[in-house]
Amino acid sequence: MRVVVMVSGEGSNLQALLDAEAAGVLGARIVAVLSDRPGARALERARTAGKPAVLLEPDPPGDTGRAAWDRATLRELDRWRPDLVVLAGYMRILGPSVVAAYRHRIMNVHPSLLPAFPGRHAVRQALAHGVKVTGCTVHFVDEGVDTGPIILQAAVEVREEDDEASLTRRIQQEEHRIYPLAVWLFANGRLEVEGRRVRVRGPVPERLPAPVDEIVG
Ligand code: GRF
Repeated sequence: MRVVVMVSGEGSNLQALLDAEAAGVLGARIVAVLSDRPGARALERARTAGKPAVLLEPDPPGDTGRAAWDRATLRELDRWRPDLVVLAGYMRILGPSVVAAYRHRIMNVHPSLLPAFPGRHAVRQALAHGVKVTGCTVHFVDEGVDTGPIILQAAVEVREEDDEASLTRRIQQEEHRIYPLAVWLFANGRLEVEGRRVRVRGPVPERLPAPVDEIVG
């Protein structure tokens, strides 16, 4: 199972995936990390883990249109022949040509319980709306923004004293738990898409097993 991870920023979800792979529990191999931003901390994390860290540039260079990014993205993805593409804080919207070429083989993680609060600033919007429970969602990517079939979700309670930073932190802890789990389910052929619904066959563990030294230490 070949996985390409696409990133733009910090890369904490990438790190959770790298750690799971290094611990031998992901059931998949991360073959490359692609970033649209040269300074992304995620690229550094990839290099530290010994993974090819690739900077995506539009095709032709300098063309900032969606089509130019889509061409570059498709070319680079095809080069790595991924079975699964994992968006981990990737900030660009993939166009229909990319989505169609990798239908139900692109996953994203979003910091809300979709369909509530799609798009950017999901945590800020959840706070502003006054919800008492929010969370995160792993879903397959379709042509819309955060609209694709839902794979896994985790709920996070909003506390009275929460601000955007504190709530984001707790949501991300859940992301780091369920994203590797979703990749593992996919890698084990446990996910089946039926229209909007993703059927998860068999029992779903709470989390992937922790690396042995974490259990011992
Ligand atoms: C995550 O919170 C995810 O929900 C959103 O972007 C953030 C990426 O964080 N799509 P990181 O780069 O994985 O640390």
